[in-house]
Amino acid sequence: MCGIVGYVGFRPALPILLSGLKRLEYRGYDSAGLAMLTDNGLWVSKSVGKIKMLEEQIADKEITSTRGIAHTRWATHGEPTELNAHPHTDNFEEIALVHNGIIENFRTLKEYLVRKGVVVHTQTDTEIIVHLIRLNYRGNLTEAVREALLQVEGTYGIAVISMLHPDTIVAARKGSPLVIGHGEGENFVASDVSAMLEHTNRVVYLQDGEIATITPSDYSITTIQNVKISPSIEEVTWTLDMIEKEGFDHFMLKEIHEQPSTIRNAIRGRLNFDDGIARLNGLNLQFEQLRRIKRIVITACGTSWHSALIGEYLIEELARIPVEVEYASEFRYRSPILEDGTILIAVSQSGETADTLSALREAKNHGTLCLGIVNVVGSSIARESDGGVYIHAGPEIGVASTKAFTSQVMVLTLIGLLLGRMRAVSVQHGRELTEWIQKIPQQVEMILRNSEPIRQIAQQFAQVNNFLYLGRGINFPVALEGALKLKEISYIHAEGYPAAEMKHGPIALIDENMPVVVIALKDSVYDKVMSNIAEVRARKGQVIAIATEGDTEIAERVNHVIYIPHTHHLLTPLLSVVPLQLLAYYVALLRGCPVDQPRNLAKSVTVE
Ligand code: AGP
Repeated sequence: MCGIVGYVGFRPALPILLSGLKRLEYRGYDSAGLAMLTDNGLWVSKSVGKIKMLEEQIADKEITSTRGIAHTRWATHGEPTELNAHPHTDNFEEIALVHNGIIENFRTLKEYLVRKGVVVHTQTDTEIIVHLIRLNYRGNLTEAVREALLQVEGTYGIAVISMLHPDTIVAARKGSPLVIGHGEGENFVASDVSAMLEHTNRVVYLQDGEIATITPSDYSITTIQNVKISPSIEEVTWTLDMIEKEGFDHFMLKEIHEQPSTIRNAIRGRLNFDDGIARLNGLNLQFEQLRRIKRIVITACGTSWHSALIGEYLIEELARIPVEVEYASEFRYRSPILEDGTILIAVSQSGETADTLSALREAKNHGTLCLGIVNVVGSSIARESDGGVYIHAGPEIGVASTKAFTSQVMVLTLIGLLLGRMRAVSVQHGRELTEWIQKIPQQVEMILRNSEPIRQIAQQFAQVNNFLYLGRGINFPVALEGALKLKEISYIHAEGYPAAEMKHGPIALIDENMPVVVIALKDSVYDKVMSNIAEVRARKGQVIAIATEGDTEIAERVNHVIYIPHTHHLLTPLLSVVPLQLLAYYVALLRGCPVDQPRNLAKSVTVE
């Protein structure tokens, strides 16, 4: 999952390409490069590491050009080296290409190209495409790209420039996102809108199987079968401020602190307090259709999979509908049983995660009604779902997902309430739940205001090598999420477990060097959790408890306690996860880790 940006216009291309790349750096950051069309030919520069390395490398270069393409990489084929970095050029150095995706038949195509006398320089799958374009070139760049793409199998988002057509960028997508930015006398193309938001908020989302020919004054789109497409321009509501750090040291910390307002956004206009019910028009389902739902399969990856697990508890308890949560990468390859009355819900922050998108397509092939819970407006999962709910969390730049998680959980709560009120939940209970829901944003604010003790606990455990997270019931997935956050950004090995499951193995790991985070709230399983805590303490484990405000007893039985406000037991994950996000953040900070761009990760996993 790389980041692509391209510009054709009247302004110096270099600063536009570099600032666009920086906005896309969260998509991949192991190497970068750019190519520009100058009067002396194609000018290419590539470097290993972050974009600032590339910037330093070209800082003293005088390059005059108003056309170019650029790329920030997350390596799939070929190590992150300068040679393997994009753009890749043809043997005559007249065509340059950047690519996001995976070409599955690149080895066969490579043999074909070598037989044709083409010299292949890199280990990448991408380089193959530019050579195919060259081989198919008969004076029309778009046609050459079309011919070449008809030979490749796999996924791609590409942008191509050539000295032979100095006014043109040809872009195409299949599986990887691409957006055209509509300007006055200039046009842009990029993997997502954040790369062009400072120049335009009028965009065209390229669909799968489409090719665009972009010039400074215009762009035309056809399918790969050369059928003309009339593009619909959409206005992006996100503002530039929303993709700035706004005074926070890291996007992750900013996004953790945005949760009171992002949770409010997820609720806004969707609660009917009088009827104690939720209103989710985007589901695009009639009352009868909602009543006929017999089974729900929720599919997702990573943090979104954890919110889906919480959705299972919520919907089963409120609506008494059986729910199964599936790893999207597993679901799509096993022939799922999707009988009548089953719906699929795909949960994804980016809306572009390849496995989740394919799981959704798999279910659609079975004729199953598919809904999406998505953050990025206009993303593939949003467009390919039959209906869904936008979580309205705003741009999430930090690779470790935080605000999207709580907004996904809030939307799943609203879905549970809506389906529940149609079945088992009384108006009274519904009203009660809507009142508790309304208090959540302010309760998150209270936790955020009291984050200093969490920073001090982080100080004590920042140098350990392992962590264990335990939770029961609806807070078991929160333990999984806490462990994932710590793993992702601090590189400490951490595992989340249902608290009772600890006795069946993980307890062997516990000694005085093992911090154990336990979600121990005053709910129906409190006593059970307290026994689990005693089992850990008996092995000298260091217990950090997430506890309910006012629970003085627990303070005597654990090493550290972080209090959160009391709320309805079904809403506790929205509060209990916040201290875990902060703990991971402070530990990573103390270990000097690159919090927003952890090694080996990328924000949106658009390849399998
Ligand atoms: C979470 O912090 C990670 N960035 C990752 O696990 C992420 O949740 C996963 O890749 C799914 O992404 P999505 O929600 O955009 O589909």
